[in-house]
Amino acid sequence: MKILVVCLGNICRSPLAEGILKEVFPVNFYFDSAGTIDMHKGKAPDIRSIQVAKQNGIDISNQKSRPIEFTDFEKFDEIWCMDRSVYQDVINKVQKEEKQKVKLFLDIVNSEDLPKDVPDPYWGEYKDFEEVFNLLYKASEIIKTKYC
Ligand code: 4NP
Repeated sequence: MKILVVCLGNICRSPLAEGILKEVFPVNFYFDSAGTIDMHKGKAPDIRSIQVAKQNGIDISNQKSRPIEFTDFEKFDEIWCMDRSVYQDVINKVQKEEKQKVKLFLDIVNSEDLPKDVPDPYWGEYKDFEEVFNLLYKASEIIKTKYC
């Protein structure tokens, strides 16, 4: 199964989600990530995302930001969006038949203990990246039990 994880810039949240999901899920799952904007195209993840991943034994330093492309809607089985604003942007780009592929990441988890959106840590501090890492990790483990 092929899954694309999407956030706004593809430098903070979705690179972390990609790294975590690759670690948590079995190898027959393929993960990639993208952004809805192309402002950071070609850049490595935000240094704070690289750092928090590294502290948890995950290397995301080789990832490169890229914007979502139309071919992604054919290539991937599902597209998981980091927040409701990203979800809306992605839904607006997709053909009607493929809309059911697009999901809000934390809706899949469907837990009353977790928020709906993965908060954007870009303008925040390092502790915000740590919180995003912990949220993504917790959610990924729950999602794994639903897909595996
Ligand atoms: P991300 O965070 O969507 O988690 O990668 C952001 C990255 C860049 C910007 C906003 C959010 N930006 O405004 O450039």
